[in-house]
Amino acid sequence: MTKSTRILAISGSLRATSSNNAILKVVAGMVSPGVEFIIYNGVGNLPHFNDSQEIPAAVQDFYNQLAAADGVFICTPEYAFGVPGSLKNALDWTVGTGDFVGKPVALVTASSVGDKAHAALLHTLTAISADIVEGGTLLVSFIRSKMNDKGEIADTATYQAIKEVLDKLIDRVGNR
Ligand SMILES: Cc1cc2nc3c(=O)[nH]c(=O)nc-3n(C[C@H](O)[C@H](O)[C@H](O)COP(=O)(O)O)c2cc1C
Repeated sequence: MTKSTRILAISGSLRATSSNNAILKVVAGMVSPGVEFIIYNGVGNLPHFNDSQEIPAAVQDFYNQLAAADGVFICTPEYAFGVPGSLKNALDWTVGTGDFVGKPVALVTASSVGDKAHAALLHTLTAISADIVEGGTLLVSFIRSKMNDKGEIADTATYQAIKEVLDKLIDRVGNR
């Protein structure tokens, strides 16, 4: 039996009506059989980073899910010209543990503008030695005008560009 590819998806938004969460649901529907696309729902449960020896259960669960993933798909807005604190906090928990070292990562920043968070996240992913997939990064500005009220990506070019990011990530995972 061939092992399926497992992608862990992480959203930078905890908002109930989040565009980024909606995008991840759309992406989950794009994957072909043989690819598991698991949306991690624990970002909001992670305590603020500290370096005590006791690893909180929520953090251990995050580590386990990262370890089980062949690749990671991050989709995030920009808040106040930066990376949302909840997402940055999640990444901070991995600095000392190396969970992202060599891990193929795709990044979609979907926001009103988003350029600053996108650039900052690329720095952070470099700092944690993630394998930032070539062709697997995308900045989508004016995101709200590109989604409809059913949570679909209404803009065809954006849909296609996000699909290409996913395809590049899956190719990268498959060619390692
Ligand atoms: C607290 C807050 C701060 C924001 N700051 C920015 C910002 O600095 N840059 C930007 O491009 N959009 C900013 N926005 C607009 C978001 O890009 C937009 O609301 C987007 O839909 C948020 O993503 P989400 O729907 O996945 O939460 C901000 C929105 C919120 C709620």
